[in-house]
Amino acid sequence: MAGQIPRDFIDSLLSRIDIVELIDSRVPLKKRGTNYIACCPFHGEKTPSFNVSANGQYYHCFGCGVSGDALEFLVQYEHLDFVDAVEELSDRLGLEVPRIKSKDGFENKQKKTSLFDLMEKVSGYYVQQLKTQIDTPVKNYIQTRGLSEQIVKDYAIGYSPDGWDSILKLLQTQTNEQQTLLDTGLIIHSEEKNRLYDRFRDRLMFPIRDRRGRTIGFGGRILSEDKSQAKYLNSPETPLFHKGSELYGFYEMTQAVRKIERILVVEGYMDVVALAQYDLRYAVATLGTATTPNHLEKLFRAAPDVIFCFDGDRAGRDAAWKAMDNLLPLLKPGKQGKFMFIEDGEDPDSLIRQKGKAYFEQCIDEAQSLSDFFYQTLLKQVDIHSYDGRSKLIDLAKPYLNKIPPDSAFYLLMKNHLADLAEVGIADLSGILKEPLVMQQQVSAQRNQNAFTPKKQNTKAASPLWKAITYLLNYPELALISGNPDYFLNLDEDGTKIFVRLLDLFQFDPKINLARLLSIWDNPKEEKQLKKIMLEPLLLDDKTAIKNEYLDLLALFVQKKQQRRIEQLQRIDKQQGLTSREKKEFLQLCSRK
Ligand code: CTP
Ligand code: MN
Repeated sequence: MAGQIPRDFIDSLLSRIDIVELIDSRVPLKKRGTNYIACCPFHGEKTPSFNVSANGQYYHCFGCGVSGDALEFLVQYEHLDFVDAVEELSDRLGLEVPRIKSKDGFENKQKKTSLFDLMEKVSGYYVQQLKTQIDTPVKNYIQTRGLSEQIVKDYAIGYSPDGWDSILKLLQTQTNEQQTLLDTGLIIHSEEKNRLYDRFRDRLMFPIRDRRGRTIGFGGRILSEDKSQAKYLNSPETPLFHKGSELYGFYEMTQAVRKIERILVVEGYMDVVALAQYDLRYAVATLGTATTPNHLEKLFRAAPDVIFCFDGDRAGRDAAWKAMDNLLPLLKPGKQGKFMFIEDGEDPDSLIRQKGKAYFEQCIDEAQSLSDFFYQTLLKQVDIHSYDGRSKLIDLAKPYLNKIPPDSAFYLLMKNHLADLAEVGIADLSGILKEPLVMQQQVSAQRNQNAFTPKKQNTKAASPLWKAITYLLNYPELALISGNPDYFLNLDEDGTKIFVRLLDLFQFDPKINLARLLSIWDNPKEEKQLKKIMLEPLLLDDKTAIKNEYLDLLALFVQKKQQRRIEQLQRIDKQQGLTSREKKEFLQLCSRK
């Protein structure tokens, strides 16, 4: 494990990099005054509200609220994690990233660099080998699978020739370099014959790239359906490649899609590639392993919605269940996981080829919510019409529900749903679900381990008003610090009526049960909107931060209202002049700004 990066290195990095240059190379900027502006790359807009300050070395968008320094820009724009962003900036400046407490840090880094170089060379070689093939089995195979030239290029698909020592020959390896080659997993040492040979022979090669586009491993497919050979062979665990945290196609997705709204997780290499060929470029694949918490973290850092796509058969459903299980402790506000199953005998590759992109995306839109998938799966295992069955349902659900952050609206809804199904009172159920204190501590320790790095909530996901509504639903007691609900009546924004009514109801009874709240809601359209927000898995892990943000939102609404009043008074002034009372009000409003 590499050591921590010292804080003062990060500071010096930030003081040496020019944010204007950094952003301008990705998003062309125009000078305006001392600042630079552009149309915001993080939300769609036609007039620029994205500002970069050369003096302050930070960016801010007045449209969607994103802001940060050079490192944060890389994290958001390139979908890198923080350490990768530090490395990227350091590389740009030609600096070595120092590490605290790592004695061999430097050596590791050097070694890794040479491994990356090697992988790159070999990847290029496989691509080259494919190009020299004409009318050979591999070319025919590509044709049979319907892979276009463009997609072969985009994914750097190649061919590992038949033979035992192509890689050794290619690199003309000296004996002292052989260990490096063994470390990449490209070469295997045969104990029996005491010689080295190529891992990948006569296979179609898929390079697996990290978030920065560097090749870290390979998957290789045989060119037939010969059941006696392993269909796919993958790189083993190496210093560069950790199967449990890599996702095939992730880098290619970040290159093709600027603003990633959702990610589809599929099982196979061929699935990712076929979907991309049909212009569905937000699919990634786990590499024949279960979906790990590492994967989930990476996925949800890049997009708010993740749809898990599996075979509809037993194995696929088991895999989906495993993914869901890993997801429960990680549920956060605005993040949601959905599940999509493909009918027997098909996979995403065959489905999109038969039915096209529009049909496929419709299936994604109709994917099951986590709660539907959860309860439907459990209901298949019990007889819900008997006492025994209902009590078994609670037993089955309990360990899973207890993994969900308990202070979230999602937990509440899952619990209410269970109470309905099992026909027990919600209070009784809460008693049953409660765990001994020791257990709770363990769960919360585990949760902290898995938690994403604390980040501000995704500000572009919802309008300020809907954000306020979401917070309110999670913490109804916020209504008590919101003042007179009627004040917000003429906010004139989508959701105003709901907001005001919620304030009213919660001020009257902050402990009102959310299910009960829905049952008394008499506007079906609004009820649907509310359900949608409530069903979003929400984990508000820091109550104080939420409260502060909520108060900021209220301040924003007040400001908006005042601004609107100022404009109104200005209009009146132009048309008929202001009364002395209006003049006074006008001056007061202006002085508050
Ligand atoms: N896999 C693997 N080793 C195998 C079989 C599968 O590593 N022997 C992994 C691969 O990453 C593969 C994924 O599991 O892409 C899904 O396997 P499968 O559905 O069997 O293959 P497809 O991706 O559909 O491949 P193809 O269409 O080429 O048969
Ligand atoms: Mn397939």
